Amino acid sequence: MKEDLSELKTIPAHVGIIMDGNGRWAKKRGQMRSSGHLEGLKAAKRIAAFASDIGVKYLSYYVFSTENWRRAQNEVDFIMGLVMKYLREEFEFYKKNNIRVRHAGDTSGLKPDIAQEIRDISKETKDFNGMQIILALNYGGRDEIVRAVRRFLVSESHASPEKKALTEDILRRYLDNPDIPDPDLIIRTAGEQRTSNFLLWESAYSELYFSRTLWPDFSEADFRSALEAYANRERRFGAIAPAHIEQSEAS
Ligand code: IPE
Ligand code: IPE
Ligand code: MG
Repeated sequence: MKEDLSELKTIPAHVGIIMDGNGRWAKKRGQMRSSGHLEGLKAAKRIAAFASDIGVKYLSYYVFSTENWRRAQNEVDFIMGLVMKYLREEFEFYKKNNIRVRHAGDTSGLKPDIAQEIRDISKETKDFNGMQIILALNYGGRDEIVRAVRRFLVSESHASPEKKALTEDILRRYLDNPDIPDPDLIIRTAGEQRTSNFLLWESAYSELYFSRTLWPDFSEADFRSALEAYANRERRFGAIAPAHIEQSEAS
C-alpha cells in the first residue's frame, strides 16, 4: 500500500537512525537484552520497508559503534551473530524492495566471516537501484575521519605537489561512502539526546530528531512524525532564511 504523504512538503533524501533502547525494551519485560536486539531487528526491517515505500533514497542504520565492543562478550557475540544471519537471510527482502546494501565503518576490525558477508551482500545488491541501506557496523565518526586521513596520506594526491592544499572536498573523497549525500535528518530513539559518534563529518548540517520511543517499538507512525517535524524545519546552512533575504537587502 502506498502511503499518502501529500501533506509532507519534503521527504528527506537521506535519513540516519541511531537505533537505541533495545536493552531497556527487554528489561521492561524482564527479558534478556538479546531479545531486545531481536525485536530491534524486526523494527529495522519494518522501517526500511516503509522508508523505501515513501521514497527515502538513503537510510543509514547505526548498528554497532566502535565503542560497543565495551559491552559483555555474550552481547557482542549475539549482535554479531544476528548481523551475520540477517545479511544472509534477507536477500529476498532486498530484492523485492530493490534495496542496495552498503557498509560504513572499519571492516578490518570485524571477524573475517562478517567482513566477507558484508562484501558479498554489497556486491549482490549493487545493481538494485531503489533505496540504499547503509549499515554502520564497527562504525565511529572519529574513526572514520582518522581512516580517511590515513587513506589520504598514502594516496597519489598526497604525493602530488598540491598535497598541502588539502580541502574539505578532497578529504571527503576518502570517507567511507563519499558518493552518498550527507544525512538530511538523524533520528535517535529511546530519549537520549546525543549522537554517540554517529556520522560526525556528515551530520554537520543534519536536522536532529529525538524520539522517546524505544527502538523495538518504533512504528511507521513514529517515523512519519519525524518526517513531519523535518518538513517543518527551516534549513539555512549558515545563510539567511529565504523569507528574510529581501528584508536584509533593503536594510
Ligand atoms: C541499541 O540499543 C543497540 C546497540 C547499541 C547495539 P541498546 O542496546 O543500546 O539499548 P539500551 O540503551 O541499553 O536500552
Ligand atoms: C549508540 O547507542 C550506538 C548504536 C545505536 C549502535 P549506545 O547505546 O551505544 O550509545 P550511548 O552509550 O548511550 O551513548
Ligand atoms: Mg543504548
